[in-house]
Amino acid sequence: MGCHHFEVLILAVISTLLLWEGVQCHKDGYSLVVSSPVTVQRGLCVEIPCRFTYVASSRDDPNAKLYGYWYAENDRHGPRLVATNNPERIYEIDPRVRRRFGMAKSTLNQGDCTFTITDAEASDKGLYHFRINKGHTAKYSYSAPEEKVYVNVTERKPDITVFGPLRAGQKESIFCKAQTCPFSEVPQITWTHVFKDSIVETSRTVNRDNVVGRLDFIPTAADHQKNVTCKAIYGEGFNRKTAERTITLNINYRPRTPRFSGYLKHPNGFLKKIINGSQIEAQPGDSLLLRCTADANPIGNVTWLRTPQMSTTQQPKLNQELKLSGLKLQDEGGYKCQVKNQEGSSDWSVFYLHVTGQQDAYKDYSEYYEP
Ligand SMILES: *[C@@H]1O[C@H](CO)[C@@H](O)[C@H](O)[C@H]1NC(C)=O
Ligand SMILES: *[C@@H]1O[C@H](CO)[C@@H](O)[C@H](O)[C@H]1NC(C)=O
Ligand SMILES: *[C@@H]1O[C@H](CO)[C@@H](O)[C@H](O)[C@H]1NC(C)=O
Ligand SMILES: *[C@@H]1O[C@H](CO)[C@@H](O)[C@H](O)[C@H]1NC(C)=O
Repeated sequence: MGCHHFEVLILAVISTLLLWEGVQCHKDGYSLVVSSPVTVQRGLCVEIPCRFTYVASSRDDPNAKLYGYWYAENDRHGPRLVATNNPERIYEIDPRVRRRFGMAKSTLNQGDCTFTITDAEASDKGLYHFRINKGHTAKYSYSAPEEKVYVNVTERKPDITVFGPLRAGQKESIFCKAQTCPFSEVPQITWTHVFKDSIVETSRTVNRDNVVGRLDFIPTAADHQKNVTCKAIYGEGFNRKTAERTITLNINYRPRTPRFSGYLKHPNGFLKKIINGSQIEAQPGDSLLLRCTADANPIGNVTWLRTPQMSTTQQPKLNQELKLSGLKLQDEGGYKCQVKNQEGSSDWSVFYLHVTGQQDAYKDYSEYYEP
């Protein structure tokens, strides 16, 4: 090919410093602009806008027709013709391929090389390039890397979008976008969701190459980590195809009533488990470790307080855990905790700590066990 000779000559004459340009094969007056890569979902379609220029030779028959050819390069046996306006070569293309691949025909003379794929198949994935010929002299393949188009074929799935965190008790929206084909029916969008008592409204906006479904609702804490599915239904009856996507909801809510858990440790090493008690019986010298936890999203900060506030005893740390070691009689009293996150504060949960010096209190230690 003339183009390759031209390239080699330049490299030989000028300098090997130009080698990096050697992979490209541009001919003056011939250029092609196409957006690449493009992504199409399986079963759907894509229109790939493309513009090209070429040089009409004065030596050629001015009535010669301009023909365009799109080739797939994903074939083991070299480039495979997938679309052309040349009636003599159209039969080289498998009818099943011919039906799905198209190119601009009436506007080809104006430099329009727009290319379309409908009902995309996984095997359509790969590089494509364009070629033209007109008469005997204008023959050219646009084969520079930036003149080729890479087509990616992905699973057909709508996209679900959620803006910001969803908040319990607030009116929120979830959006579901499904791709469409310009000349085929717009898919229906359906939702499968958990929202029972909250206001739920759905609506749909149809755009040029997609349709966006919208779900309005007021989530509750109980909806956290539940699934919502958006389904796009294309066609009807025998041609009906569906595509769906599921998301797991992340709903922010204020902490619920806190619970206590932890243990009492006797100086002899024995432990007594505490689960959500509101009364704790301890011996002087024991150590107490308690956690205050509340169901919340996001996880909240914990505040511990003595009730009533006392200055003579050790002040519990403002931490998730309450740690009191070497309990004294003065430690007896009420303790409360509260959990707070960005959505609000829980109620206070209260327990009463009894520190008794009486010997018979040892009978309470009958449930001691070793961890
Ligand atoms: C094609 O799409 C898939 C799925 O989105 C993606 O994982 C992959 O990286 C894409 N391939 C290329 C070459 O862009
Ligand atoms: C929620 O969806 C995830 C994947 O998106 C799935 O693994 C899980 O089983 C679903 N849970 C329920 C309750 O359907
Ligand atoms: C734990 O205590 C809280 C607050 O008193 C209460 O709401 C909750 O039902 C209790 N949970 C159990 C398992 O006892
Ligand atoms: C929780 O504590 C962190 C660190 O001290 C602080 O940055 C954050 O603002 C606190 N959150 C709330 C809701 O008080």
